Amino acid sequence: MKKLRITETALRDGHQSLIATRLKTEEILPILKTIDEVGYYSLEVWGGATFDACIRFLNEDPWERLRLIRKNVKNTKLQMLLRGQNLLGYRNYADDIVDKFIKLSIENGIDIIRVFDALNDVRNLEASIKAIKKYNGHCQCAISYTTSEVHTTEYYLNLIKTMENMGTDSICIKDMAGVLMPYEAYDLIKKIKSITNLDVQLHTHCTSGIADMIYMKAVEAGVDIIDTAISPFSGGTSQPPTESLALTFAGMDRNPCLNTQKLLEVAEYLKPIRDKYMKENILNPKVLLTEPQTLKYKVPGGMLSNLLSQLNSQNALDKYEYVLREVPKVRADLGYPPLVTPMSQMVGTQALFNVISGERYKLIPKEIKDYVRGNYGKSPTKISEDIKEKIIGDEEAIDIRPADLIEPEFEKIKKELGYLAKCDEDVLTYALFPQVAPKFLKEKYKECENKNETEEVIYINLTM
Ligand code: CO
Repeated sequence: MKKLRITETALRDGHQSLIATRLKTEEILPILKTIDEVGYYSLEVWGGATFDACIRFLNEDPWERLRLIRKNVKNTKLQMLLRGQNLLGYRNYADDIVDKFIKLSIENGIDIIRVFDALNDVRNLEASIKAIKKYNGHCQCAISYTTSEVHTTEYYLNLIKTMENMGTDSICIKDMAGVLMPYEAYDLIKKIKSITNLDVQLHTHCTSGIADMIYMKAVEAGVDIIDTAISPFSGGTSQPPTESLALTFAGMDRNPCLNTQKLLEVAEYLKPIRDKYMKENILNPKVLLTEPQTLKYKVPGGMLSNLLSQLNSQNALDKYEYVLREVPKVRADLGYPPLVTPMSQMVGTQALFNVISGERYKLIPKEIKDYVRGNYGKSPTKISEDIKEKIIGDEEAIDIRPADLIEPEFEKIKKELGYLAKCDEDVLTYALFPQVAPKFLKEKYKECENKNETEEVIYINLTM
């Protein structure tokens, strides 16, 4: 039997799930060399929230963080999460931006790009797959796992075959809500392994209390790689603890062969950092609690807490149960989109509007209209004419790949950013987060502006 491989998520999903992605680069750097000696398959270090939090809250350049991590991690692969044609942002980008972003991510240090689409519309993965292959990255296509009348094992097997034909190097089952049941996981992985030789990786969350069992059954079924988080950033809405899983399989034929002494050192280093965030209330103990309601309503833990805080701000906490019951109905109306960013927020908000306004689809967010127009891609099942009419009237929906409607935009965005665009990375930062990036870049270049304000800006490519 092949040894089980382990991806450490603490530096991306772990701190994203528990402390709103607030780990600073200076907190990460001193322990990287030790992490590199653990024997992990890969480290997940980058994604939408890590990028966003860097420029929005930490005043750090996310590209610089990546380069520093790469400098300190020589043996272990670095991994990132990418939302297909949305990249790390919240809209569809033109193919030239997708190409440039992937090129620079790889040049700055990323080895493996896990790419997914919220609707499992593979047309939204096309440009990413092409670019990852072009720049010699490892392309891992992820299925956004959810349950519904269309999301059958057959559906997933077809999807995986399609991804294989499109050139993916490995497959990830992305169970973002933690709703994959242990025996279903066993069955699904067995069947996937019977139709493909590609490596299969499993990603889940502890939210509902079944994650360790899922991994146990998945490993029995022959899963190749699992995602875990080192103990100080594990559990609750994060992943199961690395040390416990590593020890569970240590005596078996799937021994992941991690260095337990090094793991201990990493955990000891991160514990006081975790405790500091707990004291500052950035780590809310609530996220560490088990929430089996996610299994009942099949919604991600993050969506539950979002709905709670939205209802709280409207003084309507008594409507919580009604909203939760409305979520699956809205989801069915919209053709069963998986509840992952951005669909989870969109479906949640629509359910909330339906309940609070006292009339279904009286209030409709713009994003829901765009979704029904086809601008996010194809819904898993067809949306009924009735619902379509309620949401966009007699407007025509598109059925082509949404990005086909977007002209190349890199040069245009670069021009728009003007003197703040000092390298291609800056342009991409701005393209992804146009509201936050200008302020961040002004701050970043403040020093040199003060020195000589009229000095001509030299456009450099940092990664040449
Ligand atoms: Co996750």
